[in-house]
Amino acid sequence: MFSTETTHEVDHTVAVPLGPRSYNIRVVANDPAGFGPFARAELARTWAGASCRSALIVTDMHIADLGIPATIQASLGDIGIAALIAVLPAGESTKSLENASRLYDELVKLQADRHTLIVGLGGGVIGDLAGFVAATYARGLPLIMIPTTLLAQVDSSVGGKVGVNHPGAKNIIGAFHQPAGVWIDTQYLSNLPTRELRCGLAEVVKYGVILDAEFFANLEQIAEDVLRREHGALARIIMRCCEIKALVVAADEREETGLRAMLNFGHTIGHAIEAVAGYDGPYKHGEAVAVGMVAECRLAERLGWIKKGDVTDRLVRLLERFGLPTRATELDTGRLIEAMSRDKKNRNGAIRFVLPRALGKVELTDSADVDDILTVLSA
Ligand SMILES: NC(=O)c1ccc[n+]([C@@H]2O[C@H](COP(=O)([O-])OP(=O)(O)OC[C@H]3O[C@@H](n4cnc5c(N)ncnc54)[C@H](O)[C@@H]3O)[C@@H](O)[C@H]2O)c1
Ligand SMILES: [Zn+2]
Repeated sequence: MFSTETTHEVDHTVAVPLGPRSYNIRVVANDPAGFGPFARAELARTWAGASCRSALIVTDMHIADLGIPATIQASLGDIGIAALIAVLPAGESTKSLENASRLYDELVKLQADRHTLIVGLGGGVIGDLAGFVAATYARGLPLIMIPTTLLAQVDSSVGGKVGVNHPGAKNIIGAFHQPAGVWIDTQYLSNLPTRELRCGLAEVVKYGVILDAEFFANLEQIAEDVLRREHGALARIIMRCCEIKALVVAADEREETGLRAMLNFGHTIGHAIEAVAGYDGPYKHGEAVAVGMVAECRLAERLGWIKKGDVTDRLVRLLERFGLPTRATELDTGRLIEAMSRDKKNRNGAIRFVLPRALGKVELTDSADVDDILTVLSA
């Protein structure tokens, strides 16, 4: 199924079927000129986008240093859209109401109207913030996502969840606002710091465990190609992750049926690790999720859902090859449990987990008790 062909052969589209909010995700390898025509075609399908003549490109300093915003601005110029670029500092603290407000100021200066396009050009921080501004300014502007981290390409840019942090709670101020299109160029990943690439790979592995055992097996085969950032290998894993996320989002767009919760595998414990270790602490999100996935697999073993060894051993081996941590025994287990008891999936005081029944199949459950959780956390 997977091969590593030359970069120029990569050009794939994933459709996200959401009725009137449907859109396409295009995956390319080094095709800056292709963005304009893609944007024009995606915008043409919407009332607001069809007559778009102006845009605000939201990005951060690292991406600006690579010269990427200027190429996007030029491609928009080619299709008759005059774009301004807003460059924000890089980092999680950029995802704030203050920065949303700064972007509203830019839009007022630009005399933006309901046809003004917002382009979120960056990692998940920029995508969430730009998306939030697009969701709220003038009750909703067209949005195109250009994710530049692996995590954003396989996760945050797809699905319509946008938002900013409150100083007291991460991601708490937000909206659902689907983009008009998502443009993914694997070329952007060539400059991504290795640690950020690994964090994205944790989410990639997650998709295999929750829904696609064959994909997991393919990852085991092509792990080295991915780490070498071969465009063919990257494009294929990004495509498959986007297909899986699109499937889940199409089935439960607003997280109401519980289906979308399966994307939370590894995250009950992962989020607790981030909260206890500190958001600017030793664990980045993907690293905390890697540890969380292993611990949650061990929890599934304790519940008798999966055989001891088997799934967990393969998971640990793959995560280790990707340079991700698989344990965090230095953290206080009591504080981890306390953090988990605030998880938004919980009902009636019970901590809920998404756990594997087999490789490629997960279920939401509240049947793990605190003793089980404590045991796997201290393993
Ligand atoms: N909306 C969702 O559904 C969703 C899902 C998952 C995560 N998120 C959010 O995503 C955020 C994390 O996203 P992230 O991991 O992409 O972090 P990020 O946006 O902070 O990017 C990580 C770092 O990589 C840099 N960078 C980005 N692209 C680069 C490139 N091509 N080359 C070199 N450097 C580059 C950034 O400047 C930053 O320093 C969190 O705020 C999280 O809450 C949202
Ligand atoms: Zn995640």
